[in-house]
Amino acid sequence: MVVRRIAFATSNADKLREVRAIFRRYGVSVLWDRRRLPEPQADSLREVVRAKLAAVPSRALPGVPVLVEDSGIFLSGLRGFPGVYSRFVYDSIGLGGVLRLLEGQERTASFRTAAGIRIGRTEWITEGRVEGTIASAPRGTAGFGYDPIFVPRGGRRTFGELSSEEKERFSHRGRAIRSVARYLSHL
Ligand code: IMP
Repeated sequence: MVVRRIAFATSNADKLREVRAIFRRYGVSVLWDRRRLPEPQADSLREVVRAKLAAVPSRALPGVPVLVEDSGIFLSGLRGFPGVYSRFVYDSIGLGGVLRLLEGQERTASFRTAAGIRIGRTEWITEGRVEGTIASAPRGTAGFGYDPIFVPRGGRRTFGELSSEEKERFSHRGRAIRSVARYLSHL
């Protein structure tokens, strides 16, 4: 089966831009199923993805595989917080608040994405992850969300200081979405 287009259910235009750029290289076009999906209180990104998939009706775009994803930043110094609560924390205390919480704490972190695809009745979920550290202050204007404070391991610049191609090469989302693209290409 050759998949030439998928529908990405998200309200986030930045995620759409990143996901489109990746699939373009696999010859797959990404339709924007623009909708805000429920984010249940859940212990893992995978559970959130399962709930998001369940919330997208199959009849939305008949015959077109549905993609959803959920991401979070996990701070070692805060025992994995905010993790699945990353959006709530970003919206309520912002990067300044996160940096204050981390004062005097260990600064290693990981960024993780769970991505799920539904094709007919089959669902497949995968994850991507990148390790790094949290900068002492926000740097750079590229990207979105936590990008200005996350420095991927092996580099000095934050995701906010990288081009979108550089970020994608080793980002959590880049890894998760490339594995979805490979899965689709082997169907
Ligand atoms: P969600 O996946 O939309 O729930 O995202 C959780 C939070 O993490 C939101 O505040 C997003 O802005 C942020 N976020 C998600 N992906 C990224 C990323 O690739 N870089 C920086 N922040 C992100």
